Amino acid sequence: MELERHEYDVVVVGAGGAGLRAAIEAHESGARVAVVCKSLLGKAHTVMAEGGIAAAMANLYPEDNWRVHFRDTMRGGTMLNPWRMAQLHAQEAPDRVRELEDWGALFDRTADGLISQRDFGGHRFARLAHVGDRTGLELIRTLQQRTVALGIDVYMECTVTRLLTDDAGITGAFGYWRESGRFIAWEAPSVVLATGGIGKSYKVTSNSWEYTGDGHSLALQAGATLVNMEFVQFHPTGMVWPPSVRGILVTESVRGDGGILKNSAGNRFMFDYIPDFFRKETAESEAEADRWYDDKKNNRRPPELLPRDEVARAINSEVKAGRGTPHGGVFLDIASRRSPEYIRKRLPSMYHQFKELAEVDITSEPMEVGPTCHYVMGGVEVDPDNAAARVPGLFAAGEVAGGMHGSNRLGGNSLSDLLVFGRRAGLAAAEHALKRMGRVELADDALADAGRAALAPFEREGGENPYTVQHDLQQTMHDLVGIIRTAPEMEQALARIAALKERVANLSVEGHRQYNPGWHLALDLPHMLIVSECIARAALERQESRGGHTRDDFPASDAEWAKTNLICTPTGDGGVAVRHQPLPQMPPELAEIFEETA
Ligand code: FUM
Repeated sequence: MELERHEYDVVVVGAGGAGLRAAIEAHESGARVAVVCKSLLGKAHTVMAEGGIAAAMANLYPEDNWRVHFRDTMRGGTMLNPWRMAQLHAQEAPDRVRELEDWGALFDRTADGLISQRDFGGHRFARLAHVGDRTGLELIRTLQQRTVALGIDVYMECTVTRLLTDDAGITGAFGYWRESGRFIAWEAPSVVLATGGIGKSYKVTSNSWEYTGDGHSLALQAGATLVNMEFVQFHPTGMVWPPSVRGILVTESVRGDGGILKNSAGNRFMFDYIPDFFRKETAESEAEADRWYDDKKNNRRPPELLPRDEVARAINSEVKAGRGTPHGGVFLDIASRRSPEYIRKRLPSMYHQFKELAEVDITSEPMEVGPTCHYVMGGVEVDPDNAAARVPGLFAAGEVAGGMHGSNRLGGNSLSDLLVFGRRAGLAAAEHALKRMGRVELADDALADAGRAALAPFEREGGENPYTVQHDLQQTMHDLVGIIRTAPEMEQALARIAALKERVANLSVEGHRQYNPGWHLALDLPHMLIVSECIARAALERQESRGGHTRDDFPASDAEWAKTNLICTPTGDGGVAVRHQPLPQMPPELAEIFEETA
């Protein structure tokens, strides 16, 4: 088998914010680092975190601090988050933002020249450091520039299909160049997974083609565990029209900056959906909500800024009740509430996005929006301090890592998460590699097996077309494991996934290895199926509603389930098993934060 081979200390798979931050840290710790990414450098779902980076910098509210951010994050995640991750995240996020600025990121400023911070759902104070509505893009631009300036090797348009291990842990990774189809392997004692999410398993998603759950699946195959896979975040506001752009994100900043949601009857319906858990801090009338924009200290927040799971469910209910827009969404209106100048300044991307893609001028017309699969809270189970998975030498950071956000992530916490834990993963991966004596070895038979598996779709004739299988999987997840779930539907989904697995074993592709998208999809599909199975199995097991997981047959949250995380493990025959794992006990000095009233 023809194979290009390389040797590094640390291989980072994924070049979004988490991957680049990990690579920079590992490089600065003295490791030889490679970044491998499926797409072009800089094209990552990170850019879809448009509204900002959550960090308690206290630039607008001196009362803000890591304790309040920690509390908001845990409450948003309904206390399922590993407390240590939420603590490190809240404590370190401000330093990560300041460091980005040192590296050249140009944040919007307050009148006093400090980094400006905006409001987002579930955050007690305005805390999202932002660059218009293009924050993720600026974050990626900054990290990308630094990665290139440091001379870190980047393998672009290169897909990893397998992690390689021996008895002592990770030995490297195997993959192929998307352009030529030629194989490539990296020998490395440390691999950092930073592959992002699983959105492409769903029909309507803000994720682009890269997000097929590769890292989740590669980790499982290598012997790691996944946690919280039942919790999938449907961002309340994706575009719904025209069909070609359905699912594209409409940033939460529109609501943070004053936008309101209305149904087809013109009612501001979110007042009808305030859950008891958030009643104390949520305005109950339009007048009260409007006062909040002028005096945020002495008034309660508008209900449009409830956590995302609450808003997405409310929109779903309005549409189901027949009060949706002509294209099956609801109206998001900022035009009647803010001046055109304000909208164009604060939300330039949204302005252009709607103008160009939907011929809607958001400074004078409402947008049509509806939920879109945006983020998976579940992912590789990691040690909070060093992002290590259960396989020695394997680390995970960013969306592919699980736990940090509990059952529901607050907007803005993804960018801070990927900076905090990307750095920690890079540091630990470098340490692991540098303390190792001697080289790791890639076993010839493992390489040959990975090569054979990759080429198998070319060997079959008359098999199934990968695009048909992908379509059927996306429809299954959309219809049966979406925002609202029931046991019979999820059982049906699992049966369909089992059938799809058989069909995937019979995929065939035509043509040759040079830039062959059908072949690429054939290699992504097993990942998509395994993560979909994890989601469906864990969602069926959790018999309650919590955060991003809503069961029509178990509509209430259950105190017993608040003590348990669900862990997915490989069964050895290509399937997954789910087991319960008690949550770690929070130390008293953190538990007392929930009694504070700031
Ligand atoms: O709505 C947004 O701008 C998305 C932010 C996020 O997912 O963190």
